[in-house]
Amino acid sequence: MNFDNSQLKLHSSVDHSQHALCEIIADRIAASPHRRITFSEYMDMALYHPKHGYYSTKAVNLGQQGDFFTSVHLGGEFGELLMVQFLQMWEIMGRPVPFSLVEMGAGQGFLALDILKSIQQNSDFFKALNYIIVEKSSALRQEQQQRLQEFPVSWCDLEEIPSNSIVGCFFSNELVDAFPVHQFILKDEQLQEIYVTTSTDGEENKVSASSSRPTPSFVEVSGEPSTIQLTQYLDLVGINALSAYPDGFRSEINLAALHWLGIVANRLQRGYVLTIDYGYSASRYYNPRRSQGTLQCYYQHQRHNNPYINVGRQDITTHVDFTALERWGQSCGIDKVGFTQQGLFLMALGLGERLAMLSYTEQPTFQLLRRRDSLHQLLDPLGLGGFGVLVQNKGLTKTETIQPLKGLIVPDQT
Ligand SMILES: C[S@@+](CC[C@H](N)C(=O)[O-])C[C@H]1O[C@@H](n2cnc3c(N)ncnc32)[C@H](O)[C@@H]1O
Repeated sequence: MNFDNSQLKLHSSVDHSQHALCEIIADRIAASPHRRITFSEYMDMALYHPKHGYYSTKAVNLGQQGDFFTSVHLGGEFGELLMVQFLQMWEIMGRPVPFSLVEMGAGQGFLALDILKSIQQNSDFFKALNYIIVEKSSALRQEQQQRLQEFPVSWCDLEEIPSNSIVGCFFSNELVDAFPVHQFILKDEQLQEIYVTTSTDGEENKVSASSSRPTPSFVEVSGEPSTIQLTQYLDLVGINALSAYPDGFRSEINLAALHWLGIVANRLQRGYVLTIDYGYSASRYYNPRRSQGTLQCYYQHQRHNNPYINVGRQDITTHVDFTALERWGQSCGIDKVGFTQQGLFLMALGLGERLAMLSYTEQPTFQLLRRRDSLHQLLDPLGLGGFGVLVQNKGLTKTETIQPLKGLIVPDQT
């Protein structure tokens, strides 16, 4: 791929930790067959290396002033409205005790805080609640533990949850877009995988401030797919007419999302899976016109598409293929309840009423105007409001299944 970042100021100087991370990646490449690793392995180390990865260090910079922000950073409403949906799920299921909410990828813990404060207002629900956080980054886990110390929350890895044990809801906001992905490119109608190797071009290698050795830098090479699962994935989502695609078409495949969903389905005994993220159906995701995929990097408010700079200092993300989650979920025993857009979902849960209340105020203050602006951002169909919301379920009775979830009810247009 040609990374044209000439308009952007994207290079930070290389610090000790970044230099160390590049050396670790280069060592992994040197030890690998053909001296190359899959893009997915590269992305996993850049984001989640336990010591130097983006999400593992203090470099992780989320929020309005950070590299990027999510719905969670726009105030408490997002969590409060999600709580309305969780409360109804609990009621539909006959108020089980305990009712587990398993938040996966909880960032700084703000969403958990908003949800827990809101549930606290309903003492029956609060007493029934078992709140679990699954968080890969130990730095963020520590921040969550500090922020949530007043609340009965427990932390664990997804794999540690016993099979068939959770009665409640697994949920996530912008988790799946943060999973490492495989990248592919089409050459003569054949699928080739994109690998990462070290650059031998001296120009590319910068000398780190803390080491006399040049910091390794990375380039792409393509080759035979590392696993048959890449073509199996495309079959799953119905993308098999590769002749319809232009030569050089490239995109991503999120095998980690299928692996994750398989574990979630296995751990859920009875209840729901709620996934909020930006993304599309497979037919839009793999539209021949979207010929360069969806990978984006975020570094100090700037968005660009070069994952080989600012290694360990920038977020790398891709859109979510919701068709894959639906179809893979089905094969793992979780059924689609519905799919909607975040804007519609939040409106159905009461965001419209909140906006109307703010509009009745005669003398709007600066804070009030800001709050109104935040709510509009949650709804904006070209921004957060256009995110996908997928709900799946497992193990519910027929009577429970047919009860419409509030967030999925489409307002009457007449
Ligand atoms: C883009 S951030 C979103 C954070 C938060 N949900 C929000 O909306 O602000 C992604 C989060 O998922 C976590 N994460 C990524 N992969 C994970 C995994 N396999 N298991 C648990 N957490 C993971 C990251 O450490 C981070 O907390």
